[in-house]
Amino acid sequence: MDPKITAKEAAEFLGISSRQLYKRILDAELPHTKTLSTVAFGYPAARQVFRLNIKPQTISFQIVKGGTGKTSLACAVAIRANLYGLRVLCVDLDQQGNLTNSFGVDAESLPVMIDILAEGYSFDEAITRVAPGLDVLASRIENALLDDVIKLKRLKLDEVYRLPFNKLKEKYDLIVVDCPPNLGQSVAAVTLAVDQVVAPVVPENYAISGLKATKAAIQELQQSYHVTIPLRITVNKYDPRAVLSQEALKIISGDSEYNDELMHAYVHASTEFPNAVARGESIFDTLKATQAKRDIDQLTRELLQLDSSQCEPAVFIESHQEESFA
Ligand SMILES: Nc1ncnc2c1ncn2[C@@H]1O[C@H](COP(=O)(O)OP(=O)(O)OP(=O)(O)O)[C@@H](O)[C@H]1O
Ligand SMILES: [Mg+2]
Repeated sequence: MDPKITAKEAAEFLGISSRQLYKRILDAELPHTKTLSTVAFGYPAARQVFRLNIKPQTISFQIVKGGTGKTSLACAVAIRANLYGLRVLCVDLDQQGNLTNSFGVDAESLPVMIDILAEGYSFDEAITRVAPGLDVLASRIENALLDDVIKLKRLKLDEVYRLPFNKLKEKYDLIVVDCPPNLGQSVAAVTLAVDQVVAPVVPENYAISGLKATKAAIQELQQSYHVTIPLRITVNKYDPRAVLSQEALKIISGDSEYNDELMHAYVHASTEFPNAVARGESIFDTLKATQAKRDIDQLTRELLQLDSSQCEPAVFIESHQEESFA
């Protein structure tokens, strides 16, 4: 996996020209690639280019319906955030280990969450690096017992993940948690540990049923624990030509139960997602401007409320004084 952001995309975010950005990359001798028409760079340069100063946060992808894109969006948002120079940890809590596989990590020889809770392994022992600035706590089938271990050991739901995640925020700007499609103890503990829950819904019949159950579970936790847990809903696999897609969007946006939580950003159906996994890559390994990349960029920016005003000016303060190359 070798995700990159193009100078054009980065320059747009920063509100400067691609030429200006390229000059700065050269001046600062930042690692980058240059093909005929495209300059691109990965996390090491991105960290210097953006210098984003955001409050560390934890976001989970959860909905009690399989196949809506929790893993695909968690993976893509994590990588996009990393390409904005943020230090990202992905936590895979789904025993299917799909997020782990997306990163090409073999979890067999690594401690996973069940080993941390049941055997006392440390997070440091379990976390593995997949790319610069991008780490993963992997998952494998044994995590199917997380609910049982939490119950048997009488672990406190509002502490079991919240306390370690808060500690990990000292090292990471963003923690992304991928959940299995259930409403068990472990997912409840995640809900109580995160700053935002993202529920991807797909425009299909019964799409709302999973959302309803997930929202009800979150509301119950909010009441029991006297906390506020923001729920964000995003539509995934949107197909503008499909009547069902338009109707589903109308149903969610027109429903007073959900319209406050519905995000502006939504993700079109795109073969980029399954194809990238099949190639062992991310959707950001290609330099092409694709709909999938644009959608994930919007989703990431909206979730993290990213904008160029959060960039520390140290490197780029002189932008308005620079000679124009345009
Ligand atoms: N926007 C999209 N366009 C096309 N295919 C997509 C999109 N998002 C996800 N997919 C595909 O849909 C399938 C299910 O996605 P994914 O595994 O991310 O869902 P999930 O909610 O994590 O599933 P589970 O509940 O089993 O964990 C995958 O094959 C994935 O590649
Ligand atoms: Mg999944």
